[in-house]
Amino acid sequence: MARLVIVSNRVPPPRAKGAASAGGLAVALQSFVSSGTLWFGWSGRVTERTPGKPKIVNGGGVTYATIDLGAEDYDRFYVGFANSSLWPLLHFRLGLMRYRREDFEGYLAVNAAFAEALIPMLRPDDMIWVHDYHLIPFADALRARGFTGRIGFFLHIPFVPPSVLDALPPARALMRSLCAYDVVGFQTRTHLQDFLDCARRFGGFAVEGEEVVTEGGRVRAIADPIGIDAPSFARVAARSAGTDYIRRLTESLTGRALAISAERLDYSKGLPNRFEGFARLLARFPQHHRTVSLLQIAARSREDVVEYQALRRELDRLAGDINGRFSQFDWVPLRYMTQTVARTKLAGLFRIARIGLVTPLRDGMNLVAKEFVAAQDPADPGVLVLSRFAGAAEELTEALLVNPYDPDEIAEAMNTALEMSLEERQERHAALRRAVFEVTAARYCNVFVEALAGEAGAGPPPA
Ligand code: G6P
Repeated sequence: MARLVIVSNRVPPPRAKGAASAGGLAVALQSFVSSGTLWFGWSGRVTERTPGKPKIVNGGGVTYATIDLGAEDYDRFYVGFANSSLWPLLHFRLGLMRYRREDFEGYLAVNAAFAEALIPMLRPDDMIWVHDYHLIPFADALRARGFTGRIGFFLHIPFVPPSVLDALPPARALMRSLCAYDVVGFQTRTHLQDFLDCARRFGGFAVEGEEVVTEGGRVRAIADPIGIDAPSFARVAARSAGTDYIRRLTESLTGRALAISAERLDYSKGLPNRFEGFARLLARFPQHHRTVSLLQIAARSREDVVEYQALRRELDRLAGDINGRFSQFDWVPLRYMTQTVARTKLAGLFRIARIGLVTPLRDGMNLVAKEFVAAQDPADPGVLVLSRFAGAAEELTEALLVNPYDPDEIAEAMNTALEMSLEERQERHAALRRAVFEVTAARYCNVFVEALAGEAGAGPPPA
C-alpha cells in the first residue's frame, strides 16, 4: 500500500496525544496516522534564515520532519499572506484583509522551500495529503520538482463565493494552484459549491458534476466534514469531571450554572458579539443574575498579527465593562482567561457546563461544538448554542442555532437554554450525540484517503 505523507503548517509534537492544543486538526489526524506515515511541516520556530533541510524525529512509528522559518519568511508567509490576507478573506472579513505583493511572493517562496526540503524524502508512489490555506501552492511546487504521485488538499476553513475571492489580487493564481491537486476537500457542500464556481470564474476551467477539468487532468472536489473521536472524548470528559481541577471549579460556582466558551483568541470566533450577547442576557433577563457565570477561555493566538492585538485589547475592555456593570461583591458574571487549557481539562469543563456557547461569525467546521456534545452526561446534558455560520451547524441542527451578529439572539438563546426542561435537553442532546458519534475523525480521514487513492468513484489520475 502507498505510504501516506501528511503536510501541514503545524506539526504536532510526537506522541502528544491529548496534550494541550488549541487547534483541532492535529488532534483529528493524530488518531489516524499509522506506522510508516511521514508528517512534514513548520517546526513552529523562527530562525535567522529558512534552512534547506528538515529535522527528523520518530515517535510511535511516525516520522516527523520539520523545518524552521527564517524571520523574513515568517513575516511574509505566516503573519503576512496566510494570516493577514487569506485568513480574513476566507472568513468573509474583507475589511480586515491586508495585501502586499511581497507577502504573496514570500508565501510562494516558503511553499517552494518546503517542497524542496520534502522532495528528497519522497518515494514515487507516496500519497501526499496537504492541509489548509498556508499550503495552497504546494502541489505546484512538488510537481515543478518532478513528483508525479497523487496529491490531495483539504481546506479546514471556509471557502468564499467568487464575488468575495475577487478582492484578492492573486485570485487567479491561487485558483489555478488549487486546481493542480488530484482531490480538493472542503468541510461542507456550501464551500465545495463556492470552490467550483471560483474554479470556473478564476481558473477558466470547465466543471463537470463535482470535477474540474484542467489542461493536466481532472480535480475531484469532495465535501468531507471533519469529526472527532467522540467515544474517546466522552471517556476523557467523564474521567476529568471527577478530578480536583473540576471539583475546584464546581465549588467556586456554589450551585450556579456554568456557560462555557473555549477557542483561540481570533476575530472569526465572534467574541465581542458574544460578550455583548451575555451582557444583553443580564440586562434583559435579571432573573439570571447570580444564577449563571460565563467562563470564556480565549487562548492567545497569532500575537504578531496586528488585528489579533487589537482584538485582545477590545476584549480586555469589554470584559472589564461587563463585570463592572453586573458584578456583585460575591458574584463575578464573566470569568475570562487568555491561557491555553489542556484538552483533558476542557473536556471536564464542558461536561459540567449547562450551556456551550459557540458563536463564531464564520468557521470552517468548529470542533469545540462537537466536543461539547460528546462531553455531556446524557442523563443531564447541557445545551449547545451554536452559530448558523459554523460548518458544524449543517450537522448539529438540534442545537439552538443563532445569528451571532445579533447579541439579542444570543441572549434569548441563553435564556431558553437556562430555562429548558430536562426532557427537552435530553431529546436535543440525543440527536446531537448521534450526529457527533457518526461523523468521526476516522471517517473523515478514510473518506479523504479513499478519494485520494482514486477509489469511491474518483476519476483516473492525470496522465
Ligand atoms: C485553525 C487553522 C489551522 C491552524 C490553527 C491554529 O484551526 O485551520 O491550520 O493551525 O487554526 O492557528 P496557528 O496560526 O497557531 O497555526
